[in-house]
Amino acid sequence: MKVLVLGATGSVGSVVVQNLLKAGASVVALTRSADKAKNLPAGVEARIGDLNDPYQVGDAFKGVEAVFLLNAVSSTETQEGLFALEWVKRHGVKKLVHLSVQHVDRAPHLPHFAGKIAIEMAIKQSGIDFTILQPNNFYQNDYWFKDVMLQYGAYPQPLGSVGTDRVDIRDIADAAAKALEGGGASGKTVILAGPSSETGASTAATWSKHLGKPIAYLGDDLEAWEQGSLKYLPPWMVFDFKMMYAWFQQHGLKAGAGEREATEKLLGHPMRTFDAFAKETASQWKA
Ligand SMILES: NC(=O)c1ccc[n+]([C@@H]2O[C@H](COP(=O)([O-])OP(=O)(O)OC[C@H]3O[C@@H](n4cnc5c(N)ncnc54)[C@H](OP(=O)(O)O)[C@@H]3O)[C@@H](O)[C@H]2O)c1
Repeated sequence: MKVLVLGATGSVGSVVVQNLLKAGASVVALTRSADKAKNLPAGVEARIGDLNDPYQVGDAFKGVEAVFLLNAVSSTETQEGLFALEWVKRHGVKKLVHLSVQHVDRAPHLPHFAGKIAIEMAIKQSGIDFTILQPNNFYQNDYWFKDVMLQYGAYPQPLGSVGTDRVDIRDIADAAAKALEGGGASGKTVILAGPSSETGASTAATWSKHLGKPIAYLGDDLEAWEQGSLKYLPPWMVFDFKMMYAWFQQHGLKAGAGEREATEKLLGHPMRTFDAFAKETASQWKA
């Protein structure tokens, strides 16, 4: 099976590539960067293209049987996803696996959720054999907070106190590889929610335990988070993410009845725990 992975140089896509290689698939990776193409794993065919340039990127979809469709959060995410879907259709790709967000339709007011709702709707109407993956907040987002945790003893992601069922990227990539290989999730939406509901305070407590030093949750003050974030993130992204964290603080993001069990059945293994992720990561950081 020849599979094109979009987002192949990023956090999720790079693990999807590894899983597909292990399963013996022929892997094609899209990247905008000739330098990143040089660092792809051995055996991966790189195709250079930008989803924002629909004429130039079209050939990247030639000759593949399946596509993993991931769009980076950007102000052009919706059109990038829809251009990709159009090329999937034009080249007669048989299987499409799309990375969305958990329960995306419950928060259509969030800009980077709204774009995914439009892409999901277009995929469902396309007639293509699809699987939609809907992950919760990634454990691996905490890599961004390594320095602030190690240097200042602070955990800054304003997750609130209702609870989000955060998830390990490796479980998302396992589900993606299964679905791309035809593993029984055709026409389905797969919820990727981890086994524990984490709050800002519980996340900080788990990091304290494994880093062996106090890590304080910086709290739910979204105005303070916004002022800090505007120093290093683009304004459209800070505005969008502040809306998202306000949604998490009000409603949380938890799996519904039976959703996690259905996903574990597809995966064939239990979802990885946040505690195990933090333990493994803390020991790497301390080494
Ligand atoms: N973080 C979370 O907690 C979370 C939770 C649920 C869902 N998600 C979703 O996960 C997705 C992000 O996944 P990620 O963290 O793996 O992404 P990432 O690490 O930020 O990587 C982004 C990838 O997209 C590629 N890319 C960006 N713009 C492109 C363009 N115009 N044309 C072609 N390729 C392009 C990049 O490739 P090059 O740079 O090599 O071109 C890179 O491989 C988003 O849709 C987000 O909403 C995230």
